Amino acid sequence: MNHFEARAGELHCEDVPLRRIAQQVGTPVYVYSTATLSRHFTVFQGAFAPRAVEVAYAVKANSNLSVLATLARLGAGADTVSQGEILRALKAGVPVGKVVFSGAGKTRAELAFALAAGVGQINVESEPELDALIQIARELGVQPAMAIRVNPDVGAGGHAKISTGKAENKFGVSLGEAVRLYARAAGSGAVRPVALACHVGSQITDLQPLEDAYRTLRVLTEQLRGQGIPVAKLDLGGGLGVPYFNQPAPPPPSALAEAVNRVFEGFDIALTFEPGRVIAANAGVLVSEVIHVHHRPEGRRFLVLDAAMNDLIRPAMYDAYHDIRPVTAAAPDAPLLPYDVVGPICETGDTFTRGRLLPELKARDLVAFMSAGAYGAVMSSEYNTRPLVPEVLVNGAQFAVVRPRPTYEEMLGREPLAPWLELDGASP
Ligand code: LLP
Repeated sequence: MNHFEARAGELHCEDVPLRRIAQQVGTPVYVYSTATLSRHFTVFQGAFAPRAVEVAYAVKANSNLSVLATLARLGAGADTVSQGEILRALKAGVPVGKVVFSGAGKTRAELAFALAAGVGQINVESEPELDALIQIARELGVQPAMAIRVNPDVGAGGHAKISTGKAENKFGVSLGEAVRLYARAAGSGAVRPVALACHVGSQITDLQPLEDAYRTLRVLTEQLRGQGIPVAKLDLGGGLGVPYFNQPAPPPPSALAEAVNRVFEGFDIALTFEPGRVIAANAGVLVSEVIHVHHRPEGRRFLVLDAAMNDLIRPAMYDAYHDIRPVTAAAPDAPLLPYDVVGPICETGDTFTRGRLLPELKARDLVAFMSAGAYGAVMSSEYNTRPLVPEVLVNGAQFAVVRPRPTYEEMLGREPLAPWLELDGASP
């Protein structure tokens, strides 16, 4: 469920008309709903009741500080993959003990930073990383809690580029390696292995691979415990898919909880999850204005928007589908026309969709890309020297700009000219 609804024909976010935000902040602009973020987090965590689970929100999905602070106040932890994300989580008020540091290539500097900060868990993804962690922990005189990320060799996820749990992917170690590395870590005296972890993919709409991966972790846990090595916790990653359009709806968190119960009923283990998309995707939209409609003689109708692939790259990168809704609803009987919806960037990849059936639109109309709250703004860039798209957070009837659009002065001011190119009149 989300809080983007038409009221009297005008699309709102909670109690705020999107048109008002577009008028005040300009377009393109991302708009997030506090109520949806909160609801998704609470529903996800509550789905496992009476089992208490830790939910470390995957910061990469939407790392805006106000989004993180909203979730932190509900008790969320943070799954992070860089020093920058750790800094964000801490600044937003996530307790350091609830920060998990994941990622396939943590630098030594990042590991040292994370240990000095005292993050709650480091998810180790390879043997060289374990070596580095042990060494840095000894140097700093700390004994960090850590997990070994297992690659359970299952295929899951909506697109090859976001499937992570197959043996051929770069993430985690094989089952045998996991047991060996976990035992090695336990014997090192330098680090405290507390958990096994996995994350097999994103936009998962069939729970079977997840259930298979969870079962694998249970078997490994039993194996380690059989060797007298304690495993207190399993970090089961994220991955649950969201409905992007009128497809059979992906399973809800309650179905995930049933799968978890099937695997872990009666098994004494603490559980952590790292959901990102399922919390944030349907809590955000990208609002854009129609620049013009360009009719080609071949009959194609291009809807040229002021949003482009640099603002929302998912369609270009993953062939992702985002519902596009006019901000002012058309009459229910208005005819639908096929549009190629594109941005102004100078490459054909800057196409959001082709042949999409929409009511007739004209210059200055507003449209909203739905389900854009996850992996939207975080993946945006300034390609074509387009200002980074701003972000707005709505809460009831109020809204705030939580990342302003940079000015051209700010953008260009970040790039000092090489000294020999200074335009100071001095000729070479
Ligand atoms: N934990 C780890 C270790 C991850 O790598 C990810 C996502 C998550 C948790 C959160 O997964 P989620 O619940 O959001 O599925 N940019 C792509 C998605 C990349 C996902 C990467 N890892 C997209 O736009 O679809």
